[in-house]
Formats: sequence, C-alpha cells, structure tokens
Amino acid sequence: MSKLFADRAAGLSGSAIRATFKLLADPEIISFAGGAPSPDLFPREELEEIAARIFRDKCNLALQYGITEGYAPLADFVKARLVSQGVIRAGESVIITTGGQQVIDLTARALVNEGDVVVAERPSFVGGLNCFRSYNADLRDVPVENDGLSTDALEEMLKTTKIKLVYTIPTFQNPSGITMSLAKRKRLLELAEKHDFYILEDNPYGELRYRGEDVATIKSMDETGRVIYAGSFSKILSPGLRLGFASARADILEKLVVIKQITDVHTPTLNQLLAYEFVTNYDLDAHVRRSRELYGHKCAVMLGEMDRRFPEYCEYTRPEGGIFLWCTLPDRFDSKELFNRGVEKKVAFVPGDSCMVDMNKKYSSFRLNFSNTADDKIAEGIKILAGVIEEAAAQ
Ligand SMILES: Cc1ncc(COP(=O)(O)O)c(C=O)c1O
Repeated sequence: MSKLFADRAAGLSGSAIRATFKLLADPEIISFAGGAPSPDLFPREELEEIAARIFRDKCNLALQYGITEGYAPLADFVKARLVSQGVIRAGESVIITTGGQQVIDLTARALVNEGDVVVAERPSFVGGLNCFRSYNADLRDVPVENDGLSTDALEEMLKTTKIKLVYTIPTFQNPSGITMSLAKRKRLLELAEKHDFYILEDNPYGELRYRGEDVATIKSMDETGRVIYAGSFSKILSPGLRLGFASARADILEKLVVIKQITDVHTPTLNQLLAYEFVTNYDLDAHVRRSRELYGHKCAVMLGEMDRRFPEYCEYTRPEGGIFLWCTLPDRFDSKELFNRGVEKKVAFVPGDSCMVDMNKKYSSFRLNFSNTADDKIAEGIKILAGVIEEAAAQ
C-alpha cells in the first residue's frame, strides 16, 4: 500500500488538549483543561458597533486582499505599543500574523532544517512542540526551574550539541505559570551570542501581570538580532480573531513575510480592521486591566482552594500573571491515570505528558487553567480533584 502521509505529518497525533476540548461539551464536567480567555471579557457591544461601521464605511477595504505584512495602521499601532513597552526600538518593524501560533510556524520554516536541534522548555506549550515536530526538528528540552528555563542545563547541552533555536515562553509560561528571572534572560542571550543560536520569545501572556514587577523581555535586551518576538491579541482581546504579531531583525522578518505569503497570503483584513477600530476608538489598556483583575482574582480563588484542600505533598506554582498553574505530585503518581479518574468524577485538567518533548514517559505533574471557570465551579472542581488525588494515593 502506498504511504499516504508525509514524514512530517505521520508522527503527529491530535493533542490531548484537543481531545479534552470534547469534554467541555459535557456541561457537567468542570474543566481546568482549556486555555481560553473568559468570554465575559469579550467587548461584544463595542465590536458590534465597530463591525456595522466597517461594513458601512470601509467595506471595500475589509473585503479586499491586503498586504502580507498586515494592515498598516494596525501594524503601526502594535509597533508603537511595543516601543512604549520597551520591547522593540523605534526603528524596528512589526508584522501582523494569524495568531501567535503562526509566528512559531513561520520561524520554524524560516530557520529550522530537518534534524536541526531545537530546545524547548520542560514543560512547554504543546502547539509549539508539535510545530517543531512537524518539521522533523531534533527536539530537546531543558527543565524549567522556579525562575525559568535552566540556563545551566542549556550550557551543559551546548558542550556537546549545536543548537539552532531555543523556544521559550519566559513570562507566565504555558503551562507552568513561571516567569524567567532577568539574570537568566541575560544569560540566555549571552549563550545565544557565544554559541550562535537563535531565540524564539513567545509572549502571549506578558500583559496579564496581576502581581509583582515586570521583567524586561529578552527581545528588549537583544543587541545582535538573535531574538524573534511573538505576541498575540488572543489573550488580551479575542482568540477567535486570530491576530498575532512578530518582530525580529529585518532580514529574518522579511523571510517570515515571504513564507507567510505562501501560507495564507495575509491575515484576514476584516479581523485586522475590527481590532484596529477597537484599539483606536476604545481603551485597550483599560480592557487589559480588567482582564488582569479578573485573572488575578480567579488565580487567587484557585490557589486558596488548593491550599485548603490539596494534600501537603502536592507542590504547585503561584503565578504572578497569566492563566495557568502547574501542580507536581510525588513521582509515584501518574498524571494520565489521575486524569482518567478525574474525568470519571467530572473534573478535567491537562496531564503533564502532553506538555513534554518526551511524551512516552510517566509524569506526575499537570496543568490547571483558571481563566474560564466560574468561582464556585473552581471551588467545586478543586474539591473533587483533591478527592481524586487522595483516592489515587490510597491505592
Ligand atoms: C505559549 C503560547 N504560544 C502561542 C499560543 C498561540 O496563541 P494564538 O495563536 O491564539 O495567538 C498559545 C495559545 O494558547 C500559547 O499558550
């Protein structure tokens, strides 16, 4: 029989996270498995008014082809925002992409040959891992410590291995919620310069800080053009609009644009106009502040319930922003087995293995999301989960 699937596709299987999305359809399941923003934050009325105005006044623009780099006024807005946040310098450019996910894909296609070593964090974002897998990268990992990716482990790896790209989510990481320290960010950049590798800084959650002080992005400290920066409107406006953005050294950004043209010609103009009209006619910063407040509150509710209910041997992160936290049980636990028990009792989360480069091992950690669950359901779900852990421990 002829082989149907290309090598790059044959090894891919639907992510556990996607499979768990089906569970969300069961209204009885309390799901901490997703990663979606709260729909309570969607600016419905504003966008309704904007959409009507776009179709009335800018229909020919909205429904026509656009340029691959993105709708220029939106790209300019993002650029000015990144400059004001200190992420990029005034002379640098920005392109609009179809979600932050597309920046990962474009970067992989622009930089990574089959067999090139790409280093991800352990744990990391499944969408990023699967992207590098799909290009047959030699995917390795280094552990995430309480202050971010282990630069010592990376240095050790560099003694024997030529690395092409490090994929990091340094701020409110998915899935751990951990933020990389300034010292480690600087060290990572030094290593990149010394050993000639590139860094993909994936930062969809950076604006969602509800405690503590901002830490400078890696991109902002990059003097030699080694960092490709990926941002997103998904968690600060709407994931359904599929709007992200990238900034990088001019030659890299140009290459991303050429590849994007092959992929989807451009990000839908209508969606770019919706976002642009929103950010120019309404207050994005106020909207982001509301998101921070809500997620900070939900995070505190979840942590409070975990502190009260979880057995003492459970360790978990206490994020300063973002929408996830990461719970680690003693080695004897298997997060997949715990997941099956949880689903039976109507509570879901993401088992650790789907966040790992090596998915075939047993992991005792799992991811909990708190952005999209009502407070009383967070309390109920954590109570059930604590019972599930205790039941598994007793066997
Ligand atoms: C770390 C990380 N990167 C990228 C993405 C992709 O986001 P989007 O394509 O919606 O911007 C996500 C989404 O969950 C994510 O968690």
